[in-house]
Amino acid sequence: MTVDAQSFREALACVAMQVTVVTTRDRGGAAHGTTLGSLCSLSLSPPLVLFCLAHRAGAHDAICGAERFCLSVLAADQQPTAARFAGPAQHRFGAENAEGREEDIVLDGLPAVRGALAWLVCVRHSLLAAGDHTIVVGEVQRAERSAAGPGGPLVYHDRHYRALAEDRARRDRLARAGNGAVVATGQPLFLGQVADPHR
Ligand SMILES: Cc1cc2nc3c(=O)[nH]c(=O)nc-3n(C[C@H](O)[C@H](O)[C@H](O)COP(=O)(O)O)c2cc1C
Repeated sequence: MTVDAQSFREALACVAMQVTVVTTRDRGGAAHGTTLGSLCSLSLSPPLVLFCLAHRAGAHDAICGAERFCLSVLAADQQPTAARFAGPAQHRFGAENAEGREEDIVLDGLPAVRGALAWLVCVRHSLLAAGDHTIVVGEVQRAERSAAGPGGPLVYHDRHYRALAEDRARRDRLARAGNGAVVATGQPLFLGQVADPHR
């Protein structure tokens, strides 16, 4: 017996995911990247992480073919960045945008997201075929945590971007201390809605 796709999606929508962006550069120098919810810590010795990439993802071949890539762990206020790297490929990198945005930085020669919570520069360790995805295993060569302070993560859960409730509470406290304005508290912060990434 196999489960139907709708039941599978509904059950998996309950799994909260940390939102991350993977970026790389191909041999011709072109930048590639995509938004991920599947980053997972795998091993400490050696230091390995894994993520899953859909075969049909536009960036699949560039990322699986790259010897090195960078993972940028997004902060709660980076929902626009998550949407940018999940949207049309021609709008994913700042330098290629008509507005000349400067969201991107370069880490060890790789494009990366400015303002992320943390960055992992990886060498490709192995690729495993699994259903309609490739499991990409990276060996971490450089791990940096932002010096910007204890920012909270951008979470994707039940088809919505969210922030942790405690980050919302911290923001509320800052708002009260700053100008007397009180922002409503309660449920995890709702930041917007995007299409189901596993559509
Ligand atoms: C929050 C979020 C998490 C995602 N996680 C993954 C993922 O782990 N693996 C994956 O292959 N695509 C994931 N996607 C989808 C890709 O970011 C991208 O939208 C999709 O591959 C389509 O890109 P394309 O038009 O270049 O093919 C996710 C999208 C979002 C918004």
